[in-house]
Amino acid sequence: MSVILIEGGKKLSGALTVQGAKNSVLPMLAATVLCPGVCCMKGCPELSDVETAGQIIRRLGGEVHREGPDLVVDTRNISACEIPRELMCRMRSSVMFLGAILARCGEAVCSQPGGCDLGPRPIDLHLHALRALGAQIKEENGRLHCRCGKLRGAEIFLQIPSVGATENAMLAACQAEGTTVISNAAREPEIVELQDFLRAMGASVRGAGSATVVIEGRKKLHGCTHLVRPDRIVAATYLCAAAATGGCVCLRRAEYRHMASVLCVLQGSGCDVRSDGCGICLKSSGRLRAVPPVRTSPYPGFPTDAQAIMMAALLRSKGSTVFVETLFSDRYRHVPQLQKMGAQIRTRGQTAIVTGTENLHGTAVQATDLRGGAALIVGGLQAEGITRVEQIHHIERGYADIVGDLAGLGACIYTEK
Ligand code: UD1
Repeated sequence: MSVILIEGGKKLSGALTVQGAKNSVLPMLAATVLCPGVCCMKGCPELSDVETAGQIIRRLGGEVHREGPDLVVDTRNISACEIPRELMCRMRSSVMFLGAILARCGEAVCSQPGGCDLGPRPIDLHLHALRALGAQIKEENGRLHCRCGKLRGAEIFLQIPSVGATENAMLAACQAEGTTVISNAAREPEIVELQDFLRAMGASVRGAGSATVVIEGRKKLHGCTHLVRPDRIVAATYLCAAAATGGCVCLRRAEYRHMASVLCVLQGSGCDVRSDGCGICLKSSGRLRAVPPVRTSPYPGFPTDAQAIMMAALLRSKGSTVFVETLFSDRYRHVPQLQKMGAQIRTRGQTAIVTGTENLHGTAVQATDLRGGAALIVGGLQAEGITRVEQIHHIERGYADIVGDLAGLGACIYTEK
């Protein structure tokens, strides 16, 4: 089992180009299933989750291959409609294929998806949206059997602005007859990117980025080429790492507007953060101060995916910062690991209070989930001595080369096979 070793205390400086966004690529890969065609995803990150999505497409009868940094998907010969349990349980986004397969084949069989363990992650809103479009869904022996005669456009209200349910509904609605209106839709930039991708395929979708997304279904779809947008959570990770260690980094392609809530917290902690036209630059003395409460919420609020990473950035800050996690019930699993390094964090229910300390020390820690694992790396970069991060397969689900990227910025970090 590979581990990541970090010797803390090095300032970060330099520039790097941010990888393509995982949470954009995965629903777009599901979207390729909607029509028989060839799609090219330019700048598609090499991640284990992307590999899993590719395996799902191959099981359905499609072909997937890499051409350098790009991923080419040929869905002309898709004929199967079933996703094996073993692939479903590797990631949450496997459920995104449900709407697309149903739309393409009129039938889909899968099981409950896996993904990071952040507390219960139901898919009731996904199923509610598909049922509203005319799908009949039954669960038998842990397998979901979905069928539809013809999908029909519908008014879909989501009780929670779920990212995944909004995306699943958008995909299925592209092949439904008539107009679909999704209300209380998620507004994340990844929804807007999915809209861009679907439009490039010939679909009629509008409103993404607002709470109402409207789809006119049954347009003739075809393959397309799309340049994947940069990953805002990966960008946040590197900015938090530089903020905590001190130094000056520039992240090419990072989009200021999409990261405003994270950048605002970094500015409040004492960092100089600015957009230089081709990305985001951050300068930090490495001595941060505590910030007003950080409360996670759907976009444009502070992203839950950046909660653990920001917490790690503030481990040596002056004063105490309160975190409130409102999206997931068990998203402080990184805390006991950070505490092993000497972090002063108290949690109670959905609240965590971080009090800065001078005494972070390297030790062996285990990644418990993707972003929690990245937080351990941000902690290790500031700790005295060697931090050994184990269970790094969680981190590899979302970071194409976190070790190479941070080493390129001057960190003392490497992977031991
Ligand atoms: C997506 C992101 C994930 C991020 C999350 C919240 C991808 C691949 N993953 O996950 O990184 O942490 O958004 O920004 O894009 N919910 C239900 N029923 C449902 C669906 C969701 O109750 O059917 C609840 C969830 O438990 C959670 C909330 O809605 O409390 C938001 O979840 P959602 O936006 O759906 O997250 P994901 O799409 O799974």
